[in-house]
Amino acid sequence: MRSKIEKLAQFIEESKKTVVMTGAGMDTESNIPDFRSQGGLWYQVDPTKVATVEALEGNYPLFHDFYTARIKNMENVKPHEGHYALAELEEKGYLKSIATQNISGLHAMAGNKNVYELHGNIRKIKCNDCGTRHSLEDFLDKKSCNKCGSHALRPDIVLFGELLPTDTWDRAIRDVENSDLFIVIGTSLQVSPVNQMPYIARGRTIYINMERARGYNFDLEIIGKAGEVLVGLKEVLSI
Ligand code: APR
Ligand code: ZN
Repeated sequence: MRSKIEKLAQFIEESKKTVVMTGAGMDTESNIPDFRSQGGLWYQVDPTKVATVEALEGNYPLFHDFYTARIKNMENVKPHEGHYALAELEEKGYLKSIATQNISGLHAMAGNKNVYELHGNIRKIKCNDCGTRHSLEDFLDKKSCNKCGSHALRPDIVLFGELLPTDTWDRAIRDVENSDLFIVIGTSLQVSPVNQMPYIARGRTIYINMERARGYNFDLEIIGKAGEVLVGLKEVLSI
């Protein structure tokens, strides 16, 4: 593993435009379960029953219970060493931006400024009908929309079947296209369109994950824990 981390450090030093993309595997060391590993969230709950617009519109009590539990489970989560390592990389000019599938907000909490939240942020609440922003408490207390009276307040996240926020996606994909180093961390690459990013990157591509992903041809794969790899990278770069 060490020699691969040294190789990655060399690529980073050679790169002028490094972009990172993260998935739920970046947050498991902050005690947020991922979705598709053994024991992940989708082993416990059928996503089609809770993480879709049909669920939101057809069974609001179940939808509300599920996202209330996820919000409460994230109340005390904190960034781990790996998140802080990515913030250091940005601070020291080694990293241009992070495109994340995660809705936890942990990259921004760790200090990264250029973060594209491709699937939104669970702590941001909006009205499903008119889009008016509301507080987390309004959602948790099942308040109605203070503008249109709708009862469907929801986290501002991308549910299955919904489009990603266009401007965020466009800016993220432009960074990936223009990157000369694209590092993918902690994602099974099973959900589109984000799983197309490695094919769009024109420079070197790196995969840091606990397990391999089929159908990709990364220049370097480091099979290991995101936190350990990123802390090792920080040491090699002496930042
Ligand atoms: N370090 C590195 N990799 C890890 C770690 C870790 N500490 N923990 C888990 N992993 C890996 C797992 O092996 C798995 O391949 O992270 C990957 C997580 O994959 P998923 O659970 O499928 O999560 P993700 O790829 O982010 O899912 C994408 O699917 O359900 C939707 O909207 C949801 O954003 C999510 C999207
Ligand atoms: Zn409304």
